[in-house]
Amino acid sequence: MAQVAIYPGSFDPITSGHLGIIERGLYVFDKLIVAVAINARKGPFFTLEERLGFIERSFEGNDRVVVDSFTGLTVDYVRTKGANVILRGLRAVADFEYELQMANLNRKLAPGIETLLMMTGEEYFFVSSQNVKEIALLGGDIQGLVPPHVVEAFREKLERGEP
Ligand code: PNS
Repeated sequence: MAQVAIYPGSFDPITSGHLGIIERGLYVFDKLIVAVAINARKGPFFTLEERLGFIERSFEGNDRVVVDSFTGLTVDYVRTKGANVILRGLRAVADFEYELQMANLNRKLAPGIETLLMMTGEEYFFVSSQNVKEIALLGGDIQGLVPPHVVEAFREKLERGEP
């Protein structure tokens, strides 16, 4: 049976660090469902459609990567896909507590669904969607930190004076 994992996140926007986790995740799993969370509490910089589009474009033609969105609990979404693995990247020490809490809460909510944490590649240890947004908004160079089409999307959005 094909091994499927769900890779959930805000992906606002997808970064080179996320891309690395997906690429390396495909060494372990047959299929990855990259699931963009629709979180009413977090006002995203990019719309849901933009965030989905960035990921789709990064994996165009690769039928082992499926891009989707979800509302509600991650574990409920994982169940609807018939999967039992949540994949998450782990960067610096600062991520550890958050990921530990989330993994344990998810296991409490849904025993049998396991979270696998993959160490982020050392070249992207310092990259987060949050700091990429800050650099872009302050006029810094984000090339290499996100895919080229995301660099372009930031440029267009900021030129339009959005958000
Ligand atoms: O990229 P992020 O913002 O670190 O991703 C966080 C995400 C979306 C995985 C997390 O907030 C989440 O799972 N949200 C769905 C709601 C949920 O299941 N909450 C309980 C787990 S703590």
